[in-house]
Amino acid sequence: MADLSATIAGVRIDPLFMNASGPDCTTPEQLSGLLRSGAGAAVTKSMTLMPRPGNPEPRYMDLPLGSINSMGLPNLGYEEYCRLLPALRHEGSKPIVASVAGFSLSDYVTIARAASEAGFDLIEINLSCPNIAGHPQVGYDFEASDAVIAAVRSVCDRPLGLKLPPYFDPVHHEQMAAVLRRHRLEFLTLINSVGNTLVIDADSERPVIRPRDGFGGLGGEYVKPVALANVRAFHTLLEGRVPIIGVGGVYGGRDAFEFLLAGACAVQCGTAYKQQGTRVFDRLAAELNAILERKGYAAAAAAVGRLRALPAAASAPA
Ligand code: DHB
Repeated sequence: MADLSATIAGVRIDPLFMNASGPDCTTPEQLSGLLRSGAGAAVTKSMTLMPRPGNPEPRYMDLPLGSINSMGLPNLGYEEYCRLLPALRHEGSKPIVASVAGFSLSDYVTIARAASEAGFDLIEINLSCPNIAGHPQVGYDFEASDAVIAAVRSVCDRPLGLKLPPYFDPVHHEQMAAVLRRHRLEFLTLINSVGNTLVIDADSERPVIRPRDGFGGLGGEYVKPVALANVRAFHTLLEGRVPIIGVGGVYGGRDAFEFLLAGACAVQCGTAYKQQGTRVFDRLAAELNAILERKGYAAAAAAVGRLRALPAAASAPA
């Protein structure tokens, strides 16, 4: 059996799989289910200052190669998640990750401080919710991101990380990496859904989800190459110094192995967890183990960042 563990800021995640903040991690029952599953950690739905019912339905749709959603941050509010934490600890000793969302700097500060004081094992600051009308994704504004990171860092004693949106241009990778180098961060989670996409049903001549005229975040197989590129870009730009949790289109052990090669040390699963439930985690671990054993890796950690270069091209025929 290969060692499937990951360690982030001294927090051991074994196996290295967890849910992505998003589907089915909102209620105590859903979080208990995750803590009793084969996942190595559980992540909450992004918590906001106040409880929210979220956007009108339909707001999630399965697609042939993934999903689209505009949930609108339905959640119980940060005070309830902090209050629930001791009870969730009775479900086992797995790390519990608080996902934090805000509509202002002071929201982020209030929630991050409370989550840190409550004792969540890792705190994942979501700079990338695409689905709230009038609130652009913070992660696309480098100055605003810098300010949020500085503010939450100053109130957060627990290991702190960021969940970033996908970037599509190397200049943006470099600009965000420059911001990240100014702060102490224990991890990055890459990537959030590809925001503001539109799926149209040609039969009904309508969008497939209701909120925001059908615009929503894309997940699943569609986004895996985008996710791998962002993991690779930040692994390279930060010289492997900040642990990366890879997320986007992980359905099987082979996908997870690709994220390890790109530079992720742990992996989250969103759409596949939504579609298959908690049993997905046992399959992911078994499949990743089989790949590592077949390839002679004693530990998943040994594959992190080990993407190989293509062999030198043969010289072109004269
Ligand atoms: C939601 C979607 C996201 O991609 C995110 O980061 C946060 C919230 C949502 O609509 O609930």
